[in-house]
Amino acid sequence: MAGTGNLNMTAELAAQPLATATALPAVYYRGDAVAGMEQSSVFGQHWQYVCHASQLTDEGDYTVTHLGQLPIIVIRTGEGLRGYHNVCRHRAGPLAQCAGKGAKQLRCRYHGWTYNLDGTLRTATEMKDVADFDIKDIRLPSLQVREFEGLIFAADGNPPEFEAFIAGIAERLAISGHRLQDLQFHQHLSYDIDCNWKTYIDNYLEGYHVPHVHPELNKLLDYRSYVTETHAWHSLQFSPLESGDDLYGSGEALYYFMYPNTMLNILPGRLQTNRVLPLPNNRCRVEFDFFYAARKGDADDARRIRDMEFSDVVQDEDVRICEDVQRGLDSGSYVAGRLNPLRENALHHFQELLRADYRAYNEAHR
Ligand code: FES
Ligand SMILES: [Fe+2]
Repeated sequence: MAGTGNLNMTAELAAQPLATATALPAVYYRGDAVAGMEQSSVFGQHWQYVCHASQLTDEGDYTVTHLGQLPIIVIRTGEGLRGYHNVCRHRAGPLAQCAGKGAKQLRCRYHGWTYNLDGTLRTATEMKDVADFDIKDIRLPSLQVREFEGLIFAADGNPPEFEAFIAGIAERLAISGHRLQDLQFHQHLSYDIDCNWKTYIDNYLEGYHVPHVHPELNKLLDYRSYVTETHAWHSLQFSPLESGDDLYGSGEALYYFMYPNTMLNILPGRLQTNRVLPLPNNRCRVEFDFFYAARKGDADDARRIRDMEFSDVVQDEDVRICEDVQRGLDSGSYVAGRLNPLRENALHHFQELLRADYRAYNEAHR
């Protein structure tokens, strides 16, 4: 593998106009220094998808996930949704290892310290007579948590205003008649992939590869009328479905990317969320959740099975090309190439947001 190189090269992190843009250099696609910079300036500062509101319906329902590599827990309380670092203040144990229901308190799995649902420490096992120790001094670091169209997002640090993050999305969903808040959770799938998390997202953000990598998907989409728009914090790829398709019916397919790592793949009566998480050793985990409109009959079951089988075929094609691309990025051969302004504008938008966060990090760590 090539060395990590210099991550503070001002010229390659300068903003690039789309018309003459090049891809992000390979040096940003590997290494602990890049991962540390991204945890601080990307995952530690932006809104990320947690789950659907239908998965946290009652008081005490909670779920666990990560903001990048930070374990978090999000819980519905009497005062609304709350989110915390899922890291005990004693010796870093987890408060929960998977989703659960009806919690009245959060109990660390390691030595049993308990926290109230407002994040304050409630009890500390066998610590009553310990010098200079007061449970009132201890609480879990909290997150910002917001709900939008039935989707729950969380952020640590100083994220953009949530209203700016979601600007324009509700209006666009309404035009297509999509009501994400009415959908019901169906299934969770997770894929561990041998590539940097950005390699996977870059690939998601362009339809340029669809005719070459996804022959079956290409038949469903009208590639010529495939449109990609970029907005402040999200991009949108959309295409009318080829009419008469019996798997998805007719209507509009909307593929949202919300910086830095959330995708919403929306078809009539169906939502598939993707969350891309960095893993150690330059791997990533892509988590899919499938949601559907209320089941009307047996035909819906068959359609869901085919939808998930088809998604698996497309995902397999994407995983293989992403792992091949990562080998290319790691080869030492690659020098950042030119982007196609028409077909890779959303990728450019993603990389511009990354460049801005990298510049901010370098500025703060001079
Ligand atoms: S690490 Fe949580 S109680 Fe010890
Ligand atoms: Fe693809």
